Amino acid sequence: MLEKEAVASLIELLHGPASATGFVVSGGTEANLLALYSARNAAKIDKPEVVVPESAHFSFDKICDMLNIKLVKARLDSNYRVDPEAVEENVNANTIAVVANAGSAELGAVDPVAELSKIAENYGLPLHVDAAFGGLVLPFLRELGYAANDFDFSVSGVQSVTVDPHKMGLASIPTGCILFRDENALRCIRTDTPYLTAPIQFTFVGTRPGASAAAAWAVFESMGREGFRRIVKRCMNVTSFLKSELEEAHFELVTKPSMNIIAFRGEDSKWLVARLRGRGWCVSYVPRLDCVRIVLMPHTTKRHVLEFVQVLRELANA
Ligand SMILES: Cc1ncc(COP(=O)(O)O)c(C=O)c1O
Repeated sequence: MLEKEAVASLIELLHGPASATGFVVSGGTEANLLALYSARNAAKIDKPEVVVPESAHFSFDKICDMLNIKLVKARLDSNYRVDPEAVEENVNANTIAVVANAGSAELGAVDPVAELSKIAENYGLPLHVDAAFGGLVLPFLRELGYAANDFDFSVSGVQSVTVDPHKMGLASIPTGCILFRDENALRCIRTDTPYLTAPIQFTFVGTRPGASAAAAWAVFESMGREGFRRIVKRCMNVTSFLKSELEEAHFELVTKPSMNIIAFRGEDSKWLVARLRGRGWCVSYVPRLDCVRIVLMPHTTKRHVLEFVQVLRELANA
């Protein structure tokens, strides 16, 4: 019951139709896995392939290995969004799905979902959107007046969406969610469970942690849309503060942040990250882009930013 209500809240937020359905799962990896499991089984192709952005989360590497799907990575444009032409070039008779990011893990980049949807529909393919991070940011950005493209079920080719309440949804770990536009997508991932009181299952995990559904439900109930909007507003204010502080300290931003993720470079970013760790600041280094990456989660404040940039300046001038 709590799972149904939590899923229904997310479906409503992400403009799902009445036929939409979904499950609370362990996180983005399992949600992406279920989406591709459904797409692969529905397609019934001997040598299945999926086209993902070069920036797709590494969960797709694992998933394709497990499901025996060839992972085809499409190049990005200069804004780190997947290039729709590159996606189309890589679609062939073996393609079972196209994947888009709505908030890439590295930079928070949002792929051109509407254009990818047209391509997917032209080829009769499902478009899966990995909004593990962005699914609980983008809807509120728009309400706050930021430019944010459509990325959810309001785009007709989007057949499934990953969204993680345990990221920007403030729920306890593990709480992910997979949503499908149409419950028919479940037919090919159904398992009969004859001796149980619930006679069928659609998730990989059998007995699932009820606490995850309860956590998501409780946060949605207590925060409401207004609460999430407030949190996203605060995160974006801290993000823009960090951006201007970094620029003032002459660090190069990799790209203009489209949500509360900032990536920047110093003279030697890998060295910088190691030194920051030594000073108690545990931030991530992205080898693919040779940059430092920071996610401004709801607990971060302008005071944290000032202290962090002070340490950065000291290290850069050492
Ligand atoms: C865009 C995206 N997809 C998938 C995942 C995987 O999520 P999880 O670690 O919850 O399995 C992440 C995690 O950071 C992510 O950012």
